Amino acid sequence: MKKLCLLGLVATLASQSVVAETKPAALKDKDAFVSDLLGQMTLDEKIGQLRLISIGPEMPREMIRKEIAAGRIGGTFNSITRPENRPMQDAAMRSRLKIPMFFAYDVIHGHRTIFPISLALASSWDMDAISRSGRIAAKEAAADSLDITFAPMVDISRDARWGRTSEGFGEDTYLVSRISEVMVKAFQGPSPAQADSIMASVKHFALYGAVEGGRDYNVVDMSPVKMYQDYLPPYHAAIKAGAGGVMVALNSINGVPATANTWLMNDLLRKEWGFKGLTVSDHGAIFELIKHGVAKDGREAAKLAIKAGIDMSMNDQLYGKELPGLLKSGEIEQSDIDNAVREVLGAKYDMGLFADPYLRIGKAEDDPADTYAESRLHRSEARDIARRSLVLLKNHNDTLPLKKSATIALVGPLAKAPIDMMGSWAAAGKPAQSVTLLDGMNAVIGEKGQVIYARGANITSDKAVVDYLNFLNFDAPEVVDDPRSAQVLIDEAVKAAKSADVVVAAVGESRGMSHESSSRTDLNIPQSQRDLIKALKATGKPLVLVLMNGRPLSILEEHQQADAILETWFAGTEGGNAIADVLFGDYNPSGKLPITFPRSVGQIPTYYNHLTIGRPFTPGKPGNYTSQYFDDTTGPLYPFGYGLSYTRFSLSDMALSSTTLNKTGKLDASVTLKNTGKLDGETVVQLYIQDVAGSMIRPIKELKNFQKILLKAGESKVVHFSITEDDLKFYNTQLKFAAEPGQFNVQIGLDSQDVQQQSFELL
Ligand code: BGC
Repeated sequence: MKKLCLLGLVATLASQSVVAETKPAALKDKDAFVSDLLGQMTLDEKIGQLRLISIGPEMPREMIRKEIAAGRIGGTFNSITRPENRPMQDAAMRSRLKIPMFFAYDVIHGHRTIFPISLALASSWDMDAISRSGRIAAKEAAADSLDITFAPMVDISRDARWGRTSEGFGEDTYLVSRISEVMVKAFQGPSPAQADSIMASVKHFALYGAVEGGRDYNVVDMSPVKMYQDYLPPYHAAIKAGAGGVMVALNSINGVPATANTWLMNDLLRKEWGFKGLTVSDHGAIFELIKHGVAKDGREAAKLAIKAGIDMSMNDQLYGKELPGLLKSGEIEQSDIDNAVREVLGAKYDMGLFADPYLRIGKAEDDPADTYAESRLHRSEARDIARRSLVLLKNHNDTLPLKKSATIALVGPLAKAPIDMMGSWAAAGKPAQSVTLLDGMNAVIGEKGQVIYARGANITSDKAVVDYLNFLNFDAPEVVDDPRSAQVLIDEAVKAAKSADVVVAAVGESRGMSHESSSRTDLNIPQSQRDLIKALKATGKPLVLVLMNGRPLSILEEHQQADAILETWFAGTEGGNAIADVLFGDYNPSGKLPITFPRSVGQIPTYYNHLTIGRPFTPGKPGNYTSQYFDDTTGPLYPFGYGLSYTRFSLSDMALSSTTLNKTGKLDASVTLKNTGKLDGETVVQLYIQDVAGSMIRPIKELKNFQKILLKAGESKVVHFSITEDDLKFYNTQLKFAAEPGQFNVQIGLDSQDVQQQSFELL
């Protein structure tokens, strides 16, 4: 094969046309191009490509540029502006083979414009809104010279104690898989080589959301059927949608860390799923193989990881240090290294970087004068998407919407909390640019009414928790206490409440409480805020709770105390405006929970689609010897799929087009949805299926489809779902994915519990 002269290819900050003139055939053929380049590389250069480093404020840039020019770094993350990244790409262009760098970042729910956290995006059940958020994030990130994101994060989470619940899309396999596909397509656009697209790397592969006890980084022990059926499909959906990258999980799976797991990385990902992209370890994960106790030292850790198929090593030095020796001693083969390098080069090719290393960096004269310029934000889209993600949990006596002419006491530590509003993993979002609830309510109410603000409580009065949360943050303390005593704060809030028509209390968690390494044993709103709520309730004024939190909380008491509850998660840059739109009725809430709210932490796990059992609890007929906790009511506080509207919806006349289905046939399930209230509104019609008797136990129901529908007041519509054999397939004990003949129950509802049911038989 003819050798490529990369020097000539990229010497002049090559544009696509320059390259095309120089080596048309080579650049057109990815495999040939990558093979040729690989053939020219020294061992050091190859190992350099496997190194992904984090760029911190303290890093000496000159040294990094030297390393890059020497061919010893393949990519960076956390450097996020064009002026920062251009000199590094220049350094790469000075290296012997001029292999371009790529620049990565955790663009999870927005880049400069911060959209609601992922769990909130899932609450919208609105694939168009979710797609818009991903597309805008990609455009903003690409405009800041980023080539790849470590997202989407599609770990199914069924234990709300896990802090990273906030980062994923909830508990349900079907919903998360749909969103996974949408996000990959949104980030990558028509092609990851497009200048305004970024490559997606789905994470954390695999099963990270199932860490034992919800304790971060803990082990995962899971049956193969459960993996295939419930936890793996969202990653697979991302791969099928064309995700160019995969980030490997920090946890172990059935005794083998993901980072050393050849079954996971090779047999499943590459062979069974046919993945042809880049795999990246999570932060320091190769070194952690020693801590896991599967490698006795760094040398063995590097060997296990490269053998398992971990292409790039994120922020640890072990590949650089150990691979040459391992190769020399014959413990690994040249092909182990070459295969990894091939994927790195292939990903860079797919990002369009060989065609133009400056594709997303652009020319210096085009750099934004002000990185944080308002004009770079997408505020109206952020407001619209945030409104769609809010979930109305309670609205006794139509307390909401509020009148704009009212006097409103706005209290709570989250009413004026710009950092928290953005949620964790807020990428390049700037707190000063986020709209607090106080700002939003004031803007919407204008001169008509009045907002009286009082803080009322600190996030928590537990100093150790505050210290922990602030320790987690590197830049500045995030949780800043009001130094006044708890009683003084409450008294001030009560005074405000007494002089108001209605009280709005913004309560919940600070963003750091729902983050990496932020597992909790308790899902209550912290006591300081519960004391505040109690005092507010005692005033007798109508009480509206605006919840901000990154996981389901146990809010049984608050459910009893409050007249209305709006779940707002962490709603992003435009959060305050979006929440105000809903509070004052300028937008009718339409969100539905993507995760069950337990009554207490002790009930966990509470996911709706658990497997059938021999002694199920029967609602209304408790009695002994059925599955329940005898010291509390059985069942969740709010079920999966639940969420109210300011209007009312009814479902009637559910029908199936037939009582039987052939293997190749189609069945129509229909229902009449009517808006029986006085306002226009949107709701989500959900289709669940239960396989009544199979060769193994099956879930009590599974979400199989949904439609979000807008109806005018008084309007009705017949909603149709088509059911085929594919919707009935599952992984059996032999891991064969097939449907079994027999009876199936079809349920349609506006949440997972309150449903209508019909049955059919698969022939
Ligand atoms: C997280 C990843 C993240 C990486 C880089 C790790 O601590 O687990 O999700 O992508 O850091 O920021």
